[in-house]
Amino acid sequence: MLRCDIITIFPEFFREAFDYGIIRRARAAGLVDTKAHDLRRWTSDKHHVVDDRPFGGGEGMVLKPEPIFAGVQELTGYRSREEYSPQTRVVLLSPQGRVFTQQLAQDLSQNASQIVLICGRYEGVDERVGEALATDEISIGDYVLSGGEPAAVVLIDAVVRLLPGALGNATSTANESFSERGLDHPQYTRPTEFSGLTVPEVLLTGNHGEIARWRREAALQKTQRNRPDLLK
Ligand code: ADE
Repeated sequence: MLRCDIITIFPEFFREAFDYGIIRRARAAGLVDTKAHDLRRWTSDKHHVVDDRPFGGGEGMVLKPEPIFAGVQELTGYRSREEYSPQTRVVLLSPQGRVFTQQLAQDLSQNASQIVLICGRYEGVDERVGEALATDEISIGDYVLSGGEPAAVVLIDAVVRLLPGALGNATSTANESFSERGLDHPQYTRPTEFSGLTVPEVLLTGNHGEIARWRREAALQKTQRNRPDLLK
C-alpha cells in the first residue's frame, strides 16, 4: 500500500481529484491511500498564519517553515530527514525543482511506501524546507502554476497507474511513450469514415507486418513533428 499525504492550504481542492478511473480503482483495491491535510492544522498562533514577508524585501509572501516541518514530522513519524526510511519520500512541488519524468514516476512507484507532497503557494516556500526536509524538489514542467496543488495531482496520477495491479488490462507500461522510444503511434477506431475523414487503409488489411511497419513510421513522423528533442 502506497500512502500519499498532501500538505496544502487548499485541502478541498483534492476532494474528488482521485475519484475517477484508474486512480479510483487503485484506491478501492487498497493499492494506494491519498489524504489531503490542511497546513493550518500545524500552526500554533490564533490566526493560523502560514506565510510571512520575505527577508531581503520583494513582492509577495513566503510559506513559513515551522508548520511544514511540524506536518512532515507528524505524517512521517521522523524528526529529521536523516532518519527517514529510504521508502519515505518528501516531495516539495515547485517550479525550481527538477523536471518530473516517466523515469521519476517509475522510481517513486517502485521504491516509495509513503510520499508526502508539499504544495507551494504564494511567491515561494522558505528554502529550508528544500534544504533540510524534502528528499525531492520536483517541477512538473517549465511553466508556473499558482500553486503546487495541480502538480500534486499530476504526480500522484502518474505514479499510481504504475503500481503493480493498477491497470485493469494486461497492458505493459514499459511499452509506452517516453519509455525511451519516442511517442506512441496514432490509433483509430470505427467508423472507417467520419465526416469525410478516413482511417489509413493499411490498418484495415489485417496484415500485421504491414501494420507494425506503418505504426513505426507514423510514430516516428509524429515524434519528429511534435517532439524532435526526443530523437537526439
Ligand atoms: N508550483 C508552481 N509551478 C509549479 C510547477 N511547474 N511544478 C510544480 N509545482 C509548481
